[in-house]
Amino acid sequence: MWCDGAANVKLFMGDHFIIRGGYPLRGEIVIGGAKNSALKLLAAGLLTSEQLVLSNVPRIDDITTMIALLRYLGFNVADVSGDGSVLSVGGEITNTEAPYDIVSKMRASVLVLGPLLARYHKARVSLPGGCAIGTRPITLHLKGLEALGGNITLENGYICASTTRRLKGGNVVFPLVSVGATENVMMAATLAEGRTTIVNAACEPEIVDLANCLNKMGAKISGAGEKIIIIDGVEALHGTHHQIMSDRIECGTYACAAAITRGDLRLINGNIDHLGAVVRTLRECGIDVSQTDNVMHVQCQKTLRSTKIVTEPYPGFPTDMQAQFMALLSVVEGTSEITETVFENRFMHVPELIRLGAHIDVQGSLATVHGVRHLTGAPVRATDLRASFSLILAGLVARGETVLDNVYHLDRGYEAVERKLSACGAKIERVQKNKI
Ligand code: UD1
Repeated sequence: MWCDGAANVKLFMGDHFIIRGGYPLRGEIVIGGAKNSALKLLAAGLLTSEQLVLSNVPRIDDITTMIALLRYLGFNVADVSGDGSVLSVGGEITNTEAPYDIVSKMRASVLVLGPLLARYHKARVSLPGGCAIGTRPITLHLKGLEALGGNITLENGYICASTTRRLKGGNVVFPLVSVGATENVMMAATLAEGRTTIVNAACEPEIVDLANCLNKMGAKISGAGEKIIIIDGVEALHGTHHQIMSDRIECGTYACAAAITRGDLRLINGNIDHLGAVVRTLRECGIDVSQTDNVMHVQCQKTLRSTKIVTEPYPGFPTDMQAQFMALLSVVEGTSEITETVFENRFMHVPELIRLGAHIDVQGSLATVHGVRHLTGAPVRATDLRASFSLILAGLVARGETVLDNVYHLDRGYEAVERKLSACGAKIERVQKNKI
């Protein structure tokens, strides 16, 4: 081991990372398939008995959970490539219940509700329960499915949805923008009778990816990526092959890694078009970002400037990039402001960044970040997926050693983090629980 960290290691119960800061990242990182697209595309497989083959599937724990859920339903999931990157789903299910132990592990499990209701006319899906970043209700999913004719009741902690006949197209007007609700209703509407109009739909690129795949399966969806989506229901969908889009949040996260370490990274499969607000903010701070073919190039040699960020639904600045920018701005001279408008409790990483020497004040949804000259390594604990990476970013520039516990949060959504970072010069090592 290149560092011992023995005193800290004893404090940690699960897999953890030991990071030694101060090494600029240089080189290439291959960006994987988008988690938030892959999860919905796997659920979309339930809409047909034919094979849906998905390539560029990220090898992350949330995908393992979604596969477990589909198999629990009796659906067939085959690993075509042998390494998990190409999956084929299809067949018939043997039950329509998504149990609490799977749904509570991953909220995106609720995305099986729309497909099950549309194709099998019934579903029993556990309510997801609490979440670290906010209350995260799913009322909009349920109201949307009711507008298509679903009967929905809540019984013993479960959503019980049924319909005596085929769903019927309807008008769904969302009072606020929800990615998951848009996707659940869009999937269900593909098999409904007649036309469904979704007003105030989420516009995220993952929704466009899902709609593109559904259209290849025979659906008739127009307007995905815009505020109004129109779906003309068809009687049945068929199999297809679809390559999952690359993960814009993973790409943005490694862009922050290049920036915070004053490095130079070529992000293979990065797509600047999906990262408009993030790239604008990086440039405002003084970071060079360019795109050539499928490579996004991020370089940072200058003194950086502070900035103001407000998280918003796409095309606004993504809440999923907020924690990573907080780490970056904590070492940028001057005062930056970050307003979180999407989730009410998404500053859980702040006390941990403060443990590393950051100077951040939080008042309600506003975090004021007073840039410091340097951070100092310390034991810290991840609280959610993106918060985990913000602590890694801070650890990459902190003086000395940072030990990050609760790495399981990170494993839910980032593939091979230590391998990708080490290949570009970072000093980061995973210590496995059973090796302590
Ligand atoms: C998805 C993403 C997540 C991202 C989020 C916002 C996946 C698997 N996850 O989550 O990474 O951070 O979009 O970009 O794709 N809301 C309600 N009622 C509802 C549904 C949502 O009030 O019925 C609220 C939520 O509490 C939240 C806001 O709407 O405050 C946005 O949530 P939503 O867009 O639904 O997020 P998810 O789809 O859960």
